[in-house]
Amino acid sequence: MDRIVIRGGKPLWGRIPISGAKNAALTLLPCALLTDEPLTLRNLPRLADVDSFGHLLNQLGVSTTVEGARPDEFGRVMTLRASKLTSTVAPYDIVRKMRASILVLGPLVARAGQATVSLPGGCAIGMRPVDLHLKALEALGAELEIAAGYVKAVAPKGRLQGGTIRFPFVSVGATENALMAATLARGTTVIENAAREPEITDLAKCLIAMGARIEGLRTDTLTVEGVERLHGATYAVMPDRIEAGSYACAAGITGGSLELVGARKETMPSILSGLEDAGLLVEDTPDGVRVSADGALKPLSLSTAPYPAFPTDMQAQFMAMLTRADGTSLLTETIFENRYMHVPELNRMGADIEVRGRSAVVRGVDRLVGAPVMATDLRASMSLVLAGLAAEGETEVHRVYHLDRGYERLEEKLQAVGADIERAGGD
Ligand code: EPZ
Repeated sequence: MDRIVIRGGKPLWGRIPISGAKNAALTLLPCALLTDEPLTLRNLPRLADVDSFGHLLNQLGVSTTVEGARPDEFGRVMTLRASKLTSTVAPYDIVRKMRASILVLGPLVARAGQATVSLPGGCAIGMRPVDLHLKALEALGAELEIAAGYVKAVAPKGRLQGGTIRFPFVSVGATENALMAATLARGTTVIENAAREPEITDLAKCLIAMGARIEGLRTDTLTVEGVERLHGATYAVMPDRIEAGSYACAAGITGGSLELVGARKETMPSILSGLEDAGLLVEDTPDGVRVSADGALKPLSLSTAPYPAFPTDMQAQFMAMLTRADGTSLLTETIFENRYMHVPELNRMGADIEVRGRSAVVRGVDRLVGAPVMATDLRASMSLVLAGLAAEGETEVHRVYHLDRGYERLEEKLQAVGADIERAGGD
């Protein structure tokens, strides 16, 4: 397995192109199931998870063609066509590797009247149940049967019935499954306590481009008038706010200045305010946002929560940056029950972090020292890269397949702004 080797200590300067958002791409891809016409997605990031999702769709009978993207180009154009589904089963061996596969459930039941999807197991950061996805489909009339680790959902008479879905707490994936399923249901669906992440808005805009009738974008109540059918469309994936925030932390932890080309400020309110509270300079540029170190990093007290609050997907990266702050920070993770696996690895690099239940106390230290470290999940692996960029000496990040799930061509992007970083084979 590959590993990434970083020799730290250099301030990073320059421009980093921000790719299409992984968490938007993974909910836009299954939209292809909702129509027999071609759906063309532009600015699709080259990520392992996007490739895995494409293979899953192929198994369901969806054709996928990638238009000639030059190897040096970021993002791809993919045209998907589900003219005729050949299967409505998402098998365990795919779902266990990529939990987002559960997002074929809603579209399959809406289009084909049934779906059999393996229940995703837990993952490194938590149990990750899907009960809210299932309750949402039941609210739309689906009949569910759970057996042998699979859920089979059937729409009586082949079509879902609009209804009211009240989520007891915010779930991004369950909102996405419900929204996609409701577009073809008979009648009106109201989704209450819907997630408001920008990726949900991106999904709604793509569905509207396909002919769906959705109101309440950017609010916690989505109203959907079901239609008989959806048509094809061409849609560009939004830029990745988490990738942009991650590289902003690279500027902070190395004392440099990076322009995040393509980043959309309006999708990153709490990330940018967190960076400013930590003492960084955040400036608009014609092409995006520039984030610059501006003296010592300041300690923060931060809690993760659903959008527009501070995102859980940025917790590990801010923690890495705050190991170098001038004082003690308190981070509280309220979304996932086990999202501190980067802590022992950061401490092995000289950080001083103590986990107390759902909170982590991060005492700033003067220096980090490079060490061999192990990635455990996607955002944890990015926090180790960030620490390596600031540490004295050499850091080896092992199990970088975690990184490849969510960061397109990370080494190239960082090398271009002065990082001494390379990928080596053989773990
Ligand atoms: C999405 O996961 C993202 N993944 C995650 O990003 C992100 O951390 C998360 O939303 C929160 O923002 C994708 O979009 C592919 P949830 P999702 O349903 O949809 C519990 C990354 O690093 N829950 O909003 O799975 C759940 O266990 C990844 O890019 C239930 O209890 O998250 C969690 O505690 C990691 N029952 C909380 O709700 C359910 O049916 C929020 O989960 C569903 C969720």
